[in-house]
Amino acid sequence: MSCSQTGIGLAGFGTVGSGVWKIIERNGGLINSRSQGDVSLAIRKIAVRDLTKTRDVDAPNDLFTTNLMDVVEDPSVDIVVELIGGTTAAFDLVAAALKAQKPVVTGNKALLAERGAELFALSSEMKTSIYFEAAVAGGIPIIKAIQESLIGNQIEDIVGIINGTSNYILQRMTEEGLGYPEALKEAKDLGYAEADETLDVNGWDAAHKAILLGSLAHGFLIDPTDVYVRGIEKVIPLDISFASDLGYVVKLLSFVRLKENGAVEIRTQPSFISKKHILASVNGVFNAVAIKGDGLGESLFYGRGAGQEPTASSVISDLAEAARSIRNADSNRGFLPHRSDGQLVPIAETETSYYIRFSVKDQLGVIADISRILADTGLGISGTHSPVDPDNPDAEFVEMVFLLHSCPFGPLKTALAKVEELDCITARPVVFRIEKL
Ligand code: NAP
Ligand code: HSE
Repeated sequence: MSCSQTGIGLAGFGTVGSGVWKIIERNGGLINSRSQGDVSLAIRKIAVRDLTKTRDVDAPNDLFTTNLMDVVEDPSVDIVVELIGGTTAAFDLVAAALKAQKPVVTGNKALLAERGAELFALSSEMKTSIYFEAAVAGGIPIIKAIQESLIGNQIEDIVGIINGTSNYILQRMTEEGLGYPEALKEAKDLGYAEADETLDVNGWDAAHKAILLGSLAHGFLIDPTDVYVRGIEKVIPLDISFASDLGYVVKLLSFVRLKENGAVEIRTQPSFISKKHILASVNGVFNAVAIKGDGLGESLFYGRGAGQEPTASSVISDLAEAARSIRNADSNRGFLPHRSDGQLVPIAETETSYYIRFSVKDQLGVIADISRILADTGLGISGTHSPVDPDNPDAEFVEMVFLLHSCPFGPLKTALAKVEELDCITARPVVFRIEKL
């Protein structure tokens, strides 16, 4: 067995960075044995913002720096790990590492989805890989699954619950009746949420991950500005409760779907799915990614989608691969686009059934008025739901749910704009897709 070590420069020693330290401390010997001596990882530099912060692991003081570039420039560092988050300082760091021909391991989906075009081009030019297993679905090895295990498949469909924070919040609201702010605070305390949780709750963290999955699966870089994204921040207990009355649960779902004409449908939004579907039982911080390949058929990848050690587990797997590729002069394993003709399906053309909740003044003809507009737009109603408050059966304002047969989103938007003009409507209609999975 060889005993020469691979030097790691760790940028970021927060939730995930300190998890990487812990796993190397605990399992470094095991990793070395399992790799038959190829992988012996030694952390040689750690960059943080605040040197005085109390940390939950004990790393020697002389490893720490506040200068990110030390992590790249230290001659004892062979691989740079970016775990600081964000798209500016992280971009500069990753670009500097690639220019120095030091392979990069990152868990930063925002960076790769927003600025991947520049970084993957640089990776190619410098013949230096970017590894990003931790960027999608935390501890689930989904990147390697798509890049390697499923290389022989045309990937027809990906449906994912890929934001642990949103999934955790929705479950706490559904099962424990918690309010949104309390559930969000719990997710933050548990280390699931991003430093700025905006991207978790507005859907963009999941969308960034879906963009990466879609780019890997279909070979072209998907432009975030073309992607339809809604988050959970406006999901309220009333809709969760109505969903339950109707046999559904609310989940933040991301879709990457290959259509017959070769275009790719990609979208992220809170959606209703049947309580009986397997994804309905993916709870808390767990993620699940259902993939359908033309050879494999349907498969489901399930595991912890966020949190310290699950995410660090993915970082370590990339570190092992990067270390091996340095030692064995392996080929570039990062992502390189291989298609220039990739097209996305316009959101207006995407079709599902719908749940629409109208807040209305309970006056004569309100149902008829709404139904007429829907019918005139060619939208069929499959059911309605409007429970009467037993304590206030003559309430002046009521919530009225219409369930619609499958239809394209474009005409639905047109119809809803007309409904909103009715004087009986007191708020913007609330729309959820009902997904038949
Ligand atoms: P975190 O707990 O907020 O840690 C960020 C670390 O980066 C901190 O140690 C911070 O230093 C350091 N840092 C930030 N900006 C810096 C700068 N300009 N210079 C030097 N150090 C800097 O974040 P995290 O949860 O570990 O997440 C890190 C990355 O992993 C993010 O891209 C995130 O999206 C991704 N990720 C996280 C999870 C998860 O479950 N948390 C899962 C998958 C992927 P201080 O400690 O001094 O503040
Ligand atoms: N904030 C992210 C989540 C971390 O909650 O899923 C994992 O990428």
